[in-house]
Amino acid sequence: MRLTTISDAAAKDASSAASPLELLLGCHARIRHFMQLSLTLANAVDVPLDEISEAAAAIFRYFSLALPLHEADENRSLFPRLQAALPNGGLVHEAAETMVEQHKAINELAAELLSLCTTLDRYPARLPVLAHRLGDVAQALNLIFSAHLLLEESVIFPAFQDLLSPEQITEMSQEMQQRRQPQLSRTIHVVH
Ligand SMILES: [Fe+2]
Ligand SMILES: [Fe+2]
Repeated sequence: MRLTTISDAAAKDASSAASPLELLLGCHARIRHFMQLSLTLANAVDVPLDEISEAAAAIFRYFSLALPLHEADENRSLFPRLQAALPNGGLVHEAAETMVEQHKAINELAAELLSLCTTLDRYPARLPVLAHRLGDVAQALNLIFSAHLLLEESVIFPAFQDLLSPEQITEMSQEMQQRRQPQLSRTIHVVH
């Protein structure tokens, strides 16, 4: 059995016809997928070197290219509209601020994960030496993502569906699509 059946298809964004909620939930499914792959990689034994490289490269691609887009969707398209819809504060208002704060903590841990995956992509034979560190980082990131995704799925996403007008949701959708247009050419530049 291969370490992963990962392909770039797993990292692709949903179709342009999808609603903002569907796009956001699709991103969450991919975050969970790549977190699980990170934990699997940390615990892998007797795995061919090419599979280690392949998994590390896939994790790197997802967390360096797709995750920042997802966070921008939430920080720049969702958060300001939700806060404006809640001028008197309240629990959802605070939850949205927590969401943005958690992104910063996530990014710090993700940077460590990216550094380890860069090394493992180039030097997969180092996995036995780096596995413990990779496991620690992946577990810490998985823990914060578990709480973070639950907060968004149980509080933030239902709130924006309830509070924003159809026009605002259409604007969000357009911004999310536009955000991915220039990124496509940059992705090609970065990868090659
Ligand atoms: Fe988030
Ligand atoms: Fe999210």
